[in-house]
Amino acid sequence: MSANLRQIAPDAQQPNSFTFSAENKKLAQGIILKYPAGKQQSAVMPLLTLAQRQHDGWVPRAAMEHVAQMLEMPYIRVMEVATFYTMYNLAPIGKFHIQCCTTTPCWLAGSDDIMRACRDELGIDAGHTSPDGKFTLNEAECLGACVNAPMFEVTTPEWDMYFEDLTYENTRLLLQQLRRGEMPREGSQRGRNGSEPATGPTVLPDQQSAWKKMKEAS
Ligand code: FES
Repeated sequence: MSANLRQIAPDAQQPNSFTFSAENKKLAQGIILKYPAGKQQSAVMPLLTLAQRQHDGWVPRAAMEHVAQMLEMPYIRVMEVATFYTMYNLAPIGKFHIQCCTTTPCWLAGSDDIMRACRDELGIDAGHTSPDGKFTLNEAECLGACVNAPMFEVTTPEWDMYFEDLTYENTRLLLQQLRRGEMPREGSQRGRNGSEPATGPTVLPDQQSAWKKMKEAS
């Protein structure tokens, strides 16, 4: 099933109406209050994010209308934001949105293998959703985790996580875990702590051993 997330979904897929749930309405009101009086339109992006999370990971037209009404701004302005930024999905999407970075540092570190692992494991190509509706696969531009390349981001209506230091093998295992409903380890898949060097910390060794001793003693 193809998934063009940058094109507004056809009428047949659009819900007739959208309103925030009671919990999200409260959250939205709290977000709006962060901005000075008269500047509530600045809340358009977090409100669209909230709407996307509530609506299974995509923003229907009715949600854009609802946000426009809440912020007292023209619907077309909300639509401009939703259609410009790629983190807003404009059509139905799989439960797990796999966004595989293929920009130069990730590409040099093997993103072709990661895309191949996704294709082999999920049976779909970029821009498609698996027949069971669980996975949507896409390529992404640099996601800011180049030090731990290659990597991909997985987005669901409930959470967003980065998975880094990927290989063909660990990518397939990771996708299998998601399919089984398990939560894979976030971050480096070869056990690096944050973005530290692959061989372990190399700077301020004295301070680090003092810190280690302090932690052991506490
Ligand atoms: S190039 Fe892939 S995260 Fe930056």
